[in-house]
Amino acid sequence: MAECGCSTSRRSPSHNSVALAAAPSVMGWFDRSSINLTAAPSQLQVMLQWGSESRHSRSKYDPRRGWILIGELRSARRSAGWSRRTLAERIGVDAQTIKRLENGVGSMPTLIAVMTVLDFRLTGLGPGKTLAEQLRGRRRNRSMSLNDAALRAGLSRATVSSLEHGGGTVTSFLRLLAVIAPGARRRALERSYWGQGDKNDRDSRFTPPDFLANIYAAFGEIDLDPCGHNLSPVVANRRIVLDEGGDGLVDDWSGKTVFLNPPFSELLKWLRRAYLQWQAGNVETVICLVPVRTDSPWFHDTLSPHADIYLLRGRVRFVDPRGKGQHTPFSLMILTLGASAEQRTRLAAQIPGFWLVRS
Ligand SMILES: C[S@@+](CC[C@H](N)C(=O)[O-])C[C@H]1O[C@@H](n2cnc3c(N)ncnc32)[C@H](O)[C@@H]1O
Repeated sequence: MAECGCSTSRRSPSHNSVALAAAPSVMGWFDRSSINLTAAPSQLQVMLQWGSESRHSRSKYDPRRGWILIGELRSARRSAGWSRRTLAERIGVDAQTIKRLENGVGSMPTLIAVMTVLDFRLTGLGPGKTLAEQLRGRRRNRSMSLNDAALRAGLSRATVSSLEHGGGTVTSFLRLLAVIAPGARRRALERSYWGQGDKNDRDSRFTPPDFLANIYAAFGEIDLDPCGHNLSPVVANRRIVLDEGGDGLVDDWSGKTVFLNPPFSELLKWLRRAYLQWQAGNVETVICLVPVRTDSPWFHDTLSPHADIYLLRGRVRFVDPRGKGQHTPFSLMILTLGASAEQRTRLAAQIPGFWLVRS
């Protein structure tokens, strides 16, 4: 929650509007596009609407939370190092759409696409694989009918139903969230717990040559290192190197065998990319050297049914950009997609550990 301390009015680009300054707490409830902020609508009218809204909702929801979430979305984009244009390109919209979204205006499909690429997930919702399912699950957990939820949120039944099927607008989503999941918030970021320094520095840990020799012996030559580095000892026919303008999360993956030791601070993003590239048939075998971090629903629902997992005995001494060795302070696994039984047997003969038996 990097920006939690900010007030709504500071967060909003319209913070100097009279209405907002007079009643900052109501902002989360209204579609900005439906209020003429520069003309400053009647403060009384806004207060009356707010009063009736809170009577319906009977919740302790802090109406600023919706804006906090929207603000965090922007922070997530920035901390990924992406401009609005980059994000827009990744989801196939224009930069203006992202700008509007970051002002709380847009469609749910756009919001969901942005949340997916930024790995921006919410907690405090109900069970479900998608945001829409989680909304429905949450409403049902709270024993609210569609009509109840609609009434309390000041929305139509059709709008709530649409939100529960992935449609609707961000504005109505925030209103519904206020009623059914007032405590919803961004899920904590993954932490790499990996040394000191800034994120780039912490993520630049290279696979040691002796470990790589065992990988080559088990799997043969490596065709692609999608997150390569000029200082890394990985020998691959092709490397995608960030410093050379490459982007392993966007550029095509190709070749037979991929070796992936990704930035651990963005582990899920990279595993998702690996899974999708493998599933699309762009690569045959992917070998991922990653922390044993298995808590995400996606890992359980989507990845693990297809992955073979080798739990390493001991830890790997990675090499930092200064050439200094450093053991991980956590356990590691080798997760493979598409590896043959022979390759797996060879790996077990090279590196201490054991393959998890697939059920
Ligand atoms: C843990 S290091 C591993 C480097 C190398 N693959 C190895 O095994 O020695 C992860 C590297 O990913 C690079 N990286 C981060 N984001 C990237 C991106 N979007 N595309 C390509 N490389 C990226 C960083 O520069 C970092 O050096």
